[in-house]
Amino acid sequence: MHFSQSVIEIIQQRFSCRSYLNLPIADDTRQLLADLAASFQVGPLGTPVRCVLLAATESDRRSLRGLGTYGFIKNPAGFLVGAVQSGERNLEDCGYILEHLVLYATDLGLGTCWLGGSFTKSSFARRVAVVEGESVPAVVAIGYMAARGDVRNEPLRRRLGAVHRLPWEQLFFRVSFDQPLSKAEAGAYAVPLEMVRLGPSASNKQPWRIVREGKAWHFFLKRTPGYGDSLIFKLMRLADIQRLDIGIAMCHFALTASELGLSGHWLVQKPAIACPDEQTEYVVSWVE
Ligand SMILES: Cc1cc2nc3c(=O)[nH]c(=O)nc-3n(C[C@H](O)[C@H](O)[C@H](O)COP(=O)(O)O)c2cc1C
Repeated sequence: MHFSQSVIEIIQQRFSCRSYLNLPIADDTRQLLADLAASFQVGPLGTPVRCVLLAATESDRRSLRGLGTYGFIKNPAGFLVGAVQSGERNLEDCGYILEHLVLYATDLGLGTCWLGGSFTKSSFARRVAVVEGESVPAVVAIGYMAARGDVRNEPLRRRLGAVHRLPWEQLFFRVSFDQPLSKAEAGAYAVPLEMVRLGPSASNKQPWRIVREGKAWHFFLKRTPGYGDSLIFKLMRLADIQRLDIGIAMCHFALTASELGLSGHWLVQKPAIACPDEQTEYVVSWVE
């Protein structure tokens, strides 16, 4: 892999950085990111995805200060923008590829923050010259972290991050949704699951649910009621951002499994597992 350190370490270092130094990204670092971005052309579920690194303009900064986002984003040096073709699992693919770049940026010492809220994406769509059938569901702010210093030296923040996550028993199950999966039962897969748990998600809603059935790990999306469904979302035709969260979870799971030598592949084949409620739907399975 192209990472300089363990992806498990990188996932633990990442956090949503909302304040950056007023500095452009160094040329060599920008080139590394742009090269990796250019090497990703399709997501793991087959949708063409195109990622571009853009430098932030004054007008981006102004709009970030306005209504746009639910967190204040200060001085980003640039944005990773994902343009994805339409398709049934396109947002999951886009989430996966952009998160892979987020982890690479983290490894390079940069801070990042996903922006999927109500931040206007039309100017990004224009700047990456989206073509017919493509859309920009989210962007990632990127730059050198302000004040926090080297996040690698911040074990406290890592612990805090984990505190703001749902406990295992609400996220991971065996065979059916009424049987929580313990870490011991997860065996070698306890680490990939924990790395899913530490992943970023829109408004930290953590909509991922995973059910283990033999050699299959079924990923479900538990939608937050009303989220993405509200009038404002509809009016602004925002992407279904919780599907990006699933792509992010898939990325953390697969990269960690690969690092641990656990081989498997993605398959979309709905299992005969009863969903606990109307908000929960099947997305994809990892098959060992
Ligand atoms: C798809 C997506 C969209 C997000 N949109 C925003 C946003 O618009 N503004 C913001 O400040 N944070 C945004 N976030 C960051 C989340 O709030 C953050 O990941 C979550 O609170 C967990 O915190 P952590 O990333 O520091 O671990 C987004 C995250 C994801 C995955």
